[in-house]
Amino acid sequence: MTQLKNPEDAPIDFIALPKIELHAHLSGSISRQTLHEIWLLQQPHTTLPDPLLVMPPGKHDFDLTAFFPLFSSYTYHLINSPSSLSYATSSVLRDFAADGVVYLELRTTPRAIPSADMTKSDYVRCVLETIVQFEREDKRMRTKLILSVDRRNSLPEAQETVALAVEFMLKGVVGLDLCGDPAVGGIERLAPAFAEARRAAPGLGLTLHFAEAECSGSGEELEMLLGWGPQRIGHVIHVSEGMRERIVKRGGMGLELCLSCNVHAGMVCGGFEGHHFGEWWKVDNVAVILCTDDVGVFGSPLSNEYALVAEHFGLERADICALARRGIDTIFGGEEEKVRLREILWSG
Ligand code: IMP
Ligand code: ZN
Repeated sequence: MTQLKNPEDAPIDFIALPKIELHAHLSGSISRQTLHEIWLLQQPHTTLPDPLLVMPPGKHDFDLTAFFPLFSSYTYHLINSPSSLSYATSSVLRDFAADGVVYLELRTTPRAIPSADMTKSDYVRCVLETIVQFEREDKRMRTKLILSVDRRNSLPEAQETVALAVEFMLKGVVGLDLCGDPAVGGIERLAPAFAEARRAAPGLGLTLHFAEAECSGSGEELEMLLGWGPQRIGHVIHVSEGMRERIVKRGGMGLELCLSCNVHAGMVCGGFEGHHFGEWWKVDNVAVILCTDDVGVFGSPLSNEYALVAEHFGLERADICALARRGIDTIFGGEEEKVRLREILWSG
């Protein structure tokens, strides 16, 4: 059990602490063990190597040039049917619930799988059905879905994702995301898709990967992304002082910070102590939310992210509880869910 002895306080049980997870990519959240189980089920019909060889247990350092190809060259070949997608999704949900997550916004890029005769719409439906099935058995964790537009997408592909988000809004999709390799530029071509989402479905939340790498942290790109009207932004690493002030001035913006991902992928300097969580967590007027990003790859569950900030930034029990509650107002899952979360997170 993840526990930390806080000298001025009782030990904090970070797993028992009810938590909100708002930035988790489905394919990156699948544990190595689950990938291995899926691989075993596909024997002898697969030529893919064992996931435990591709991602040896204990290896959590992946630089970004090795990280992004992992999905297109490996994971997507393994998760290649309704049954493997559903198996992987339910396993991801079980893992988050077992780690004390009470509200999850899972995000995924809709993917057509022609070999299984699956359209992007079938993909989204399969994930949503798996969530419904899971919630029949687990009443404590509620899960909503965010659909991701990949930076590599063409405008028609992005528009298709927006149309799917609108179509499935009443069935559990609550938002849109912009994700993908930050080295891919030219994303102004995607702006009309996000403008269309805002016009057609103002109730859809918007979260954007923001200044994740130096190459995606130019003033022009960040100005443009803020202009798309996100309620939350992810990573927020390469921001100038002026941009920092702009973010604070907007008031109530959610900052999805992912410590282990950033450290293990070499996206920040100075290890955990040098992470910009230290600059943000006491700032009023923004909501810092700890998130895992890709727990299957980087190996640090959300409970451990809380343990890490306690260890490296000296947060005490009251700070940890305040941090866990801070994201409630930024969820995309609606007012009723906020009320439920306030009850759970204030009663502990
Ligand atoms: P999926 O969308 O469920 O298939 O999850 C995998 C996808 O998430 C990858 O192909 C990336 O586009 C995206 N992703 C995962 N981690 C990151 C990240 O740290 N930055 C940007 N995109 C990411
Ligand atoms: Zn991410």
